[in-house]
Amino acid sequence: MLRRIWPRNMPQKGISDLSKDNTEDIGIARGSDYGVDVGQGIDQPVAEASPIVVGATVGTAALGARYLIRAWEAFKARPIVPHARRFYPGGFEQVMTRREAALILGVREHAVIEKIREAHRRVMVANHPDAGGSHYLASKINEAKDDPTFEFLAKKPYVPPSWAAQLSPVPSHIFSLGHFPTPIHEWNLPNLPKNTEVYLKRDDLSGMQLSGNKVRKLEFLLADAVAQGADCIVTIGGIQSNHCRATAVAARYLNLDCYLILRTSKVLVDKDPGLTGNLLVERLVGAHIDLVSKEEYASVGSVALTDLLKEKLLSEGRKPYVIPVGGSNSLGTWGYIEAIREIKNQLQKGSREVTFDDIVVACGSGGTIAGLSVGSWLSNLGSKVHAYCVCDDPEYFYEYAQGLLDGLQAGVSSRDIVDIHNAKGLGYAMNTAEELTFVKEIAQATGVILDPVYSGKAAYGMMRDMAENPRRWEGRKILFIHTGGLLGLFDKTEQIASVVGNWRRMDIHESVPRKEGTGKMF
Ligand SMILES: Cc1ncc(COP(=O)(O)O)c(C=O)c1O
Repeated sequence: MLRRIWPRNMPQKGISDLSKDNTEDIGIARGSDYGVDVGQGIDQPVAEASPIVVGATVGTAALGARYLIRAWEAFKARPIVPHARRFYPGGFEQVMTRREAALILGVREHAVIEKIREAHRRVMVANHPDAGGSHYLASKINEAKDDPTFEFLAKKPYVPPSWAAQLSPVPSHIFSLGHFPTPIHEWNLPNLPKNTEVYLKRDDLSGMQLSGNKVRKLEFLLADAVAQGADCIVTIGGIQSNHCRATAVAARYLNLDCYLILRTSKVLVDKDPGLTGNLLVERLVGAHIDLVSKEEYASVGSVALTDLLKEKLLSEGRKPYVIPVGGSNSLGTWGYIEAIREIKNQLQKGSREVTFDDIVVACGSGGTIAGLSVGSWLSNLGSKVHAYCVCDDPEYFYEYAQGLLDGLQAGVSSRDIVDIHNAKGLGYAMNTAEELTFVKEIAQATGVILDPVYSGKAAYGMMRDMAENPRRWEGRKILFIHTGGLLGLFDKTEQIASVVGNWRRMDIHESVPRKEGTGKMF
């Protein structure tokens, strides 16, 4: 059944979504200053701190120590009842919870990583085994510090991989916003060329509302926003922009307001945009939405539009931080440099001996491919990056990626490290019937749902090339990166309805006994 949609010359006609355009004008924001905020180090001598700080830290240590001693005494005096599990005063939890770790260290549950380290140092000094403290307590204190539940939504200093240390500027901090590492698994696509293996990196599983590739960029961009003292975020994109939705959620997590400029058609620009897909999430988390028409977007430009909103917010006394289309500036590029570190770690730790000859990914604003390609090149991962662009054209993206690489002083030509192929088809966010059928058939064959705007078009382009040039791909091991975007699929329900599975009214034969009151639902 699948073979039908990968003929040698696939027609490019079919269903189109006329509410979308293919005009993306993206301002290159080159290597800005990333707001290096040094001097908050944890090694600051206590003698230089103010009396308030000393008082607070002593108090913190005392609090932690008091909890520890009580918990320890209760633990020693506990009755030996198997499976009895009480939090307090019956001893320690079997598995350290975030609350318990906070109590042990005397910090708030959402404390940033620096505070946790500092608190750990002080509580450890108060109970050091060398000074007569308990070894058992010391192990609990260490466990509390290492509790990974503290990592999520925490800001921590960023240390680049050694192979990327020559890039500049290097971000000073990173916020943990996604669930990483994302899994890699074999993807059993049908009709692959001989001995070709395809693996899937599930960046669509990097979170729920915050899912997809944008999270990796936002980890750096929002750390910069916070370092610069911003109180709100401004960004821009299409009406179903995954980037805008992810930014709205991430901003809310960090207690920042979010202002979105969304591009829609002229006939819809004065109407309520509704609640479909990404819009529902954006509106639920309270993002402010300004609509602009495609014509306004094309003639004014995304940079000027965000500047306009920024000026307005400044005049109202706000401190806005502007993120460009798709989060694709040089700082955001670090997100996928980090992803290369993650992939290398996964390959090292994995039980299988596998290396990837190729990395295949969708390209919409350029940041993902810039990060992947410079990372793969610098780290000697040795994978060739193939980008399938879903808007504009390959020439545009070679130039755009070059701007991002130059902004990091990478000293390499984009043309030498990435192959960019055209997968735009009918236009940005427009789909042919074949593309939507492909999305459905991949879902039915493998259980993986591709979004039709990005990864759907990239996978379709890759499979078409495999069908047309099987020799080029034979025997290769390919890592396809699924960059998310599932919520955008909800905007396609009408077009996709005709290709999805059927339904029927259940047939319950009249001989099946019926009884009044059986199966009561309320
Ligand atoms: C789901 C999804 N995949 C891929 C991309 C492309 O990534 P990039 O904008 O970094 O090129 C985007 C955004 O443009 C996206 O939303």
